[in-house]
Amino acid sequence: MIEFSPGTAFAVDPAIIPVPAAMQQQDGVFVLQPDMRIRVDAATLETGRLLAAVLGKSTGFTLQIVMDGDAAIVLTTADAKGSLGSEGYELAVSPDSLVIRAPQPAGAFYGVQSLLQLLPPEVFSPSIVNDIEWKIPCVRIEDQPRFPWRGLMLDVSRHFFDTEEIKQLLDSMAMQKLNTLHWHLVDDNGWRIEIEKYPLLTQVGAWRKDVGFGLDAKATTAYGPDGRYGGFYTQDDIREIVAYAQSRHINIVPEIEMPGHSIAALSAYPELSCSGGPYSTDIGAGIHAGVYCAGQDESFAFLQDVLTEIFDLFPSKTIHIGGDEVPKDNWKACPQCQARMKAEGLKNEHELQSYFIRRIEKFINANHRNLIGWSEIREGGLAENAAVMDWIGGAVEAAGSGHDVVMSPTSHCYFDYYQSQDLSGEPRAIGGYLPLSTVYSFEPVPENLPPDQQNHILGAQGNVWTEYIPSLKQVEYMTYPRLTALAEVTWSPAELRRWDDFCRRLQTQYRRFDLFGVHYRRETSTQISE
Ligand code: ACM
Ligand code: ZN
Repeated sequence: MIEFSPGTAFAVDPAIIPVPAAMQQQDGVFVLQPDMRIRVDAATLETGRLLAAVLGKSTGFTLQIVMDGDAAIVLTTADAKGSLGSEGYELAVSPDSLVIRAPQPAGAFYGVQSLLQLLPPEVFSPSIVNDIEWKIPCVRIEDQPRFPWRGLMLDVSRHFFDTEEIKQLLDSMAMQKLNTLHWHLVDDNGWRIEIEKYPLLTQVGAWRKDVGFGLDAKATTAYGPDGRYGGFYTQDDIREIVAYAQSRHINIVPEIEMPGHSIAALSAYPELSCSGGPYSTDIGAGIHAGVYCAGQDESFAFLQDVLTEIFDLFPSKTIHIGGDEVPKDNWKACPQCQARMKAEGLKNEHELQSYFIRRIEKFINANHRNLIGWSEIREGGLAENAAVMDWIGGAVEAAGSGHDVVMSPTSHCYFDYYQSQDLSGEPRAIGGYLPLSTVYSFEPVPENLPPDQQNHILGAQGNVWTEYIPSLKQVEYMTYPRLTALAEVTWSPAELRRWDDFCRRLQTQYRRFDLFGVHYRRETSTQISE
């Protein structure tokens, strides 16, 4: 198949983001008509319904969905090339037919995302747009992702975003063929998920005195009836969000932080700490080390109970247990932690941390799930089957010893960093500087990783830590278009990435975002920053 060459002159210049693995453009257009039908099979029915719903809103057409008979638009798994894998698809547009063929439902869904991006951007309008010809350039696309993990991490502990806001984020992710939402559900400043066995986690741990982080109280609306700041997802909310994500082929990886970053849990159950507390979620309460006691069996029993409810709620094969930034002072001073180290023959507190993670891993594996944790879970020895999320290194070592790795280094993936060096127009951020062009230049496979170990790099994700991000609007501003760049990094073949062509397609993506209601930072520089 002939590769798409940017700059080729056609009546309609396609602006698909992420750029497809192979695309050949032909003369002619397919024009959508109100009486057209969409033929689906059992595997593509749900995607067919989503397509009809999106088209219905903006075009006003009520396209009928049929399981057999003639149709101008076909979404099918029949006779699909198995080599396209679980997420790949073929899209063939000729003047009188439009066929998406994919071996699996996710591929059909991604074929539809490409199809929507071949239409005028107005297709993303929430209301009917008149006086427009809904034409699609004739193309042949054969496409599949480079990496299986294409993600975003959202911290909902520092600030709470409600169910509708999470759905809005899932919608914009799906548009760009992203498939993983890593949901940082608990941290020092708020516990955000209802756990039936431990009601105080949300009755106490989901709230704090005020918004904190030096922010204006009016910067957020997440207040409870008693005026406290916070919120949490009920288990019904979680089920609703997980189902919404599933229908968009997004896996939600829940993160339950341990052993550190646990002040919110300890504010509710201080007996699980070394000192017995008290702890408080209030920002600036002066408590720096929220760490579960590794000497008490009760800590493990509690976490296993929590994880049991997590397994019920999340179908994700991968469960994130945090593991970053674990202060060791409490453990050093705790007779129970020291007794544990002696009994288990552990030489230092790094090994005690490794003991903690390994013990939790056994439980997670026994429940047929896999553990992933941040870089620091390598300290004191990496658990047997664990995957590593690299934010401060460890990818090469972990992959080299046969462990899977997700890349999210601060150098390319920290979307809480500033997007410009001119801070005058930027909302206050945590610091750092990560311009769009740097994200776009990211190569997830470390240079010094031997070829036979590169398959352990599952992909990459952007991390949105929200200390200074109290609203969804601001989450979107920090996320887009940097996540758009990362979508192309993780989906498209590296050799097809071209910064100037990305910038061209981004102009169309902005138009889609405008209509779809996604807030973003309009990148004015097309220069590659140092
Ligand atoms: C992290 O940024 N502490 C993983
Ligand atoms: Zn202890």
